[in-house]
Amino acid sequence: MRIRVRPVTRLSGTVDVPGDKSVSHRAALLGAVATGRTEITGFLEGDDCVNSLKAVEKLGALVTRKGPGHYLVDGAGLLGLHEPDDVIDCGNSGTTARLLLGVLAGQPFWTFLSGDASLRRRPMQRVAEPLRAMGATFVGRQDAGRLPLGVRGTRSLRAISYISPVASAQVKTALLLAGLWADGPVSVTEPAQSRDHTERMLGSFGARLSRQGQTVTVTPGAELRGQSVAVPGDISSAAFLLVAGALVRDGQVTVTRAGINPTRAGLLDVLEAMGAPVALSHVSGAAGEPVADLTSTSARLAGIHIGGDLIPRLIDEAPILAVAACAAQGTTRITDAAELRVKESDRIHAIASELARMGARVSETQDGLEIEGGARLRGATVASGGDHRMAMALVVAGLIADGETVIEDTSCISTSYPGFLVTLNALAGSPCAEELP
Ligand code: S3P
Repeated sequence: MRIRVRPVTRLSGTVDVPGDKSVSHRAALLGAVATGRTEITGFLEGDDCVNSLKAVEKLGALVTRKGPGHYLVDGAGLLGLHEPDDVIDCGNSGTTARLLLGVLAGQPFWTFLSGDASLRRRPMQRVAEPLRAMGATFVGRQDAGRLPLGVRGTRSLRAISYISPVASAQVKTALLLAGLWADGPVSVTEPAQSRDHTERMLGSFGARLSRQGQTVTVTPGAELRGQSVAVPGDISSAAFLLVAGALVRDGQVTVTRAGINPTRAGLLDVLEAMGAPVALSHVSGAAGEPVADLTSTSARLAGIHIGGDLIPRLIDEAPILAVAACAAQGTTRITDAAELRVKESDRIHAIASELARMGARVSETQDGLEIEGGARLRGATVASGGDHRMAMALVVAGLIADGETVIEDTSCISTSYPGFLVTLNALAGSPCAEELP
């Protein structure tokens, strides 16, 4: 599928966004290994999270869909999962694959995982290696560094204190989940704090967890009990609408009930530093996560440096922040973000090459980007490379470009934000972005 975008001068309104992807995955997985029923509302029915639900069903959890985003997961308990009778297809979802490997490391049977072409290129060694050190067995391509791979776990994993070379919530989560079946405490130390949804949710399901600085420890032995999980709106989806609201001439966009967990909300800090502060109202909480209504308004943006510990707090927002940087006066430098090269696409390369097609002055560095803002973007034919966040960032770029922009390969948007175009067109008040056959 392709999307044609025409520029707009106005975006205004109040909308909601689908449920948080990270929280939805975790609710499916924890629900599956808990005892009793987990009731999830606001579950993200994008392809990625649906793949997590299908995976836990294959492993023995009972999943019932009650309505849009409303699921019951009857858990198998820590000892109740069973060998699946087929390969588990994780689709495009790195979170499904890596988090599941943590669970499977504690299961005494073989499971085989695969995924789409993008996921089969992404590194799995980062979880396979520490899980091997705990006693799980892996087979697969590149010594289990790439999907497809097989894992056979054990109920007596060894306790470990792992110092992770990357600030990755997926690595941290895989180890904490495996820790539920370990013979002693499992600790993970990260170079910088990654999103902490797992810690929050594990705690509410009854796991024993502690944190000291950058080290989080799970102590096995506690039973997990099914919970009600009201998933907040995904700030990473809201990001596209909020940045669009700041960039168009007459913009005012409110996204209701978005998650503002500080370990995820680096976007808000960056927009403020760029001169486009997002206003927060109705601050409350859901599923142990802070939520708020977020409003962005047209602003003149200035280029800034985005790097260091801020990066894990906005890692998924790099493509849309790069679009904001194109519209800003001055230079924006993104550094310390080499992880972007192993996302759904090599996002450093993808951002540089596709925004350059639209006339942006952007260059790639080994661990980031340098963007000289202020040049008007012009409509062009650009490609998402099958990466949902690239596709949506390019749609927003098209809103502020001169002329028409066509984005190729856009069906991937459904992995994280089904309904994106409908919401965007509603804010524009006219069909500014249309699907082409
Ligand atoms: C996620 C963690 C991040 C993020 C991904 C979701 C998670 O990946 O990019 O979209 O839910 O744990 P890494 O752990 O690889 O940084």
